[in-house]
Amino acid sequence: MKTFVLPGTDIVAPAIVTGMMRIQEKSDAEVRALFDASLDAGVNFFDHAAVYGSQPHGCERRFAEALSLTPSQRDEITLQTKVGIVKEDGPYFDFSYDEIVSSVDDSLTALGTDHIDILLLHRPDALVEPEEVARALDEVATAGKVRYFGVSNHSPAQVELLKRYVTQPLVANQLQLSITHADLITQGMSINMGALDQSVDRTIGTLDYCRLHDITVQAWSPFQAGFFNGPFLGNPDYPELNAVIDRLAGAYDVPGEAIATAWITRHPAQMQVVLGTTQPERVTAAAKGADVVLTKVEWYELYRAAGHIVP
Ligand SMILES: NC(=O)c1ccc[n+]([C@@H]2O[C@H](COP(=O)([O-])OP(=O)(O)OC[C@H]3O[C@@H](n4cnc5c(N)ncnc54)[C@H](OP(=O)(O)O)[C@@H]3O)[C@@H](O)[C@H]2O)c1
Repeated sequence: MKTFVLPGTDIVAPAIVTGMMRIQEKSDAEVRALFDASLDAGVNFFDHAAVYGSQPHGCERRFAEALSLTPSQRDEITLQTKVGIVKEDGPYFDFSYDEIVSSVDDSLTALGTDHIDILLLHRPDALVEPEEVARALDEVATAGKVRYFGVSNHSPAQVELLKRYVTQPLVANQLQLSITHADLITQGMSINMGALDQSVDRTIGTLDYCRLHDITVQAWSPFQAGFFNGPFLGNPDYPELNAVIDRLAGAYDVPGEAIATAWITRHPAQMQVVLGTTQPERVTAAAKGADVVLTKVEWYELYRAAGHIVP
């Protein structure tokens, strides 16, 4: 497994992360199998959020109850969670001091741990008051409850606004990215081209901003064709892409999932891929991609086969 020291931290991070958004209904044995397959593949980094599950903190609780980690087992993994999406009376976004501080306490209880390694601000709150965010982050950091902080789905200006008051480094920005949902990448290659939809700026230079500021991009939904509309692998709507994936999978002797993962880890921004599968064998398959280094020709062939244009 490709690993690197996550910039701004002392965490040795794998290029692949196992996301826990879909484990609410899984049995203890299923959660353990997913966890064990992750560790066996070198993935010791787990992504949670307060909002995942049928109840607030539901998936965090399911994870802790199913695994009952010993203190030393806990210390061998990186636990990341998120704050700021509220379902009750909503959904709405809430970066208030009270929500951040109480959600961190509830995450600690649900996860059965005394510290969160990385806390992400989940989705930009239109009513954010960055001074309040700073006060909340200072409090949970000083209390030893959270080691590092980051954001998710944030634009460069939104990060800058937070940084005007937040003194801790923001080390990660978790953003949607797959071969087929690749606005982060496509728009940088087609600026100022009126005839091309991929020229429409939906990401506002976020990828380059993250690279410039040592903010690690964590790619969520790496297998979804679009926004939660199912995977592109084996999808008849993507015959050309699947043909290229299958050919490269054969050439590298890895499963197709690994080629999808490798397309993201090949990017020099040194991104992490946040898997959402609940199937242990798919974690094993996808994790192999971290060690596949696609050539530039192969990377661009996948890009074109997904329907993106090289102008
Ligand atoms: N920051 C954010 O706003 C945000 C938003 C969404 C998600 N996330 C994070 O990102 C993680 C991944 O999200 P996601 O679940 O949408 O991502 P994903 O890995 O792209 O999709 C996984 C889903 O696709 C299914 N699937 C079907 N065939 C598959 C195949 N061949 N390979 C892999 N998966 C296949 C999986 O089903 P099976 O379980 O049956 O394999 C699962 O339902 C989440 O767990 C969460 O941690 C973050």
